[in-house]
Order: sequence, then structure tokens, then C-alpha cells
Amino acid sequence: MSDNALKPVPAHVAIIMDGNGRWAKAKGLERSAGHFEGVNAVHRITEAASHLGVKYLTLYAFSTENWNRPQEEVDALLNLISFALERETPGLIANNARLEIIGDIDRMPEEAQQRLRRSMAATAHGTGLTVVVAFSYSSRWEITRACREIARKAAAGEIDPETITDETVSQHLATASYPDPDLLIRTGGDMRLSNFLLWQVAYAEIFVTDTYWPDFSVDEFKSAIDNFRCRERRFGRTSEQINHSL
Ligand code: IPE
Ligand code: IPE
Ligand code: MG
Repeated sequence: MSDNALKPVPAHVAIIMDGNGRWAKAKGLERSAGHFEGVNAVHRITEAASHLGVKYLTLYAFSTENWNRPQEEVDALLNLISFALERETPGLIANNARLEIIGDIDRMPEEAQQRLRRSMAATAHGTGLTVVVAFSYSSRWEITRACREIARKAAAGEIDPETITDETVSQHLATASYPDPDLLIRTGGDMRLSNFLLWQVAYAEIFVTDTYWPDFSVDEFKSAIDNFRCRERRFGRTSEQINHSL
């Protein structure tokens, strides 16, 4: 067995679940059919992540910018998140998983917010995988909010501006209680971040696949993880430094 095979699975995997619309279009279906099929992919990948020993799985489900889609599609996505939470919560509990949410959920209809709170409360005691759903989320929204909060504390004399470090910033983000992602996966082939976890992915390994999200299989998820396990993460150092410290 090579050394590479011994590298651990990523503790935190973040996924930009893209390509639902193109998946549907290729099949002559409505975009909403792609989103619906996307929920089945969420189910299998969440289960696989849990079995593989991943500790955190962050799923980009709806961005701040996605509010600008046609109202009909936004409504379909809002209905779908409630449906998915209803259907998937018992399985999360059975897998000892915990559900959390990051994003500006005040923009969601009250009913969907309540559904979310119920699912979070029902899974709060899970000690296995933490599934973090990013909904109505964007990194710039989150970083701006953090700046506002830090500035408020500085103005109130609770924080000395000279003592602000990158850790202070991390602690004011919606992701404060999670480690940074080790592996970022994007399906649908586009090579961009689309306002997702810009601060947190500073040193994430990136894996982009052309596969549309509804077709993303457990096998491909495992190969993304195997690929991650073969990479050398240098964090700015040299390869020699990394290998000497082993
Ligand atoms: C991702 O699929 C899901 C959301 C953004 C809500 P898309 O709906 O963006 O699918 P494509 O990129 O148009 O194929
Ligand atoms: C990113 O996908 C957001 C989600 C997957 C939820 P988009 O389809 O919205 O990204 P862009 O607009 O193509 O960059
Ligand atoms: Mg897209």
C-alpha cells in the first residue's frame, strides 16, 4: 500500500450541487424535475458521507443570487426544501446525523423557516455527520454581516481593532463552529465559486466534475475522496518540509 492510501478522508467536504437545470433540459423535462432528482442525490451522498466517516458535509442548495431566478422556480425550490426536510429528517436521525443551516433564512417564507427549525431541533443530538445546508447563502452576505458585527463590537469597546486576527473574522462567520472545508466539489463542470465559502476554502482541495448533480453517484463521490487522499497539501510550504515532518 502506498503512503497516499493512508491519508485520512477529508473531515469537511463542501459541495456546489450544480447542473440540475441542464440535467432536466437534456431529458426534455422542466427544470423543477432536475431539482427534484437532485434531492435523491443529496440523500445518497449524505448517506455515503456518513458511512465514509466524513464529519461535516456542507451543501450549497440556494444562493443569495438564486433569489433572482424566475419566481416560479424560486417557489418550486422553496417547496422542495420543505418537502426534502420532511422526507429526509427521519433518515438523518437514524444515521445519527445533525442538520444545520447557514444563510439568510429570514428571507424564506415563515412556513419553510419553521420546517427548518423543526428538523434542526429533531437532529440536534446527532453526534455523527453534521450536514450544513447553505440556503439563501452567499459568502459576501456572510462576510459583510461579520464586518458589521465586528465593527459594532469595536465601536462599543468590546474589541480592540488592533487585536483582530483572521481567527476573529472566522469566529464571526456563519460557519464559526465548523472547521474549514478540506475538499470542495463542484458538479456541472463550471470552474467558479459562485459566492460560496470564499473565506473558508482558502486551502481547500478543489474537484470539479462535468457530471450534473442529479447523476452524481456514490462511486464518483468516493473517487473524489480518493483523489483528495492522493494530493499533497502544502499550505505554502515546500514538499520537502511536508515530508520531513512526517
Ligand atoms: C443547481 O442547479 C441548483 C440551484 C442553483 C438551486 P441549477 O439550477 O443551477 O442547474 P443549471 O446550472 O442551470 O444546469
Ligand atoms: C451555484 O449554482 C449555487 C448553487 C448550486 C446553489 P448557480 O447555478 O446559481 O451558479 P452560477 O449562477 O452558474 O454561477
Ligand atoms: Mg447552475
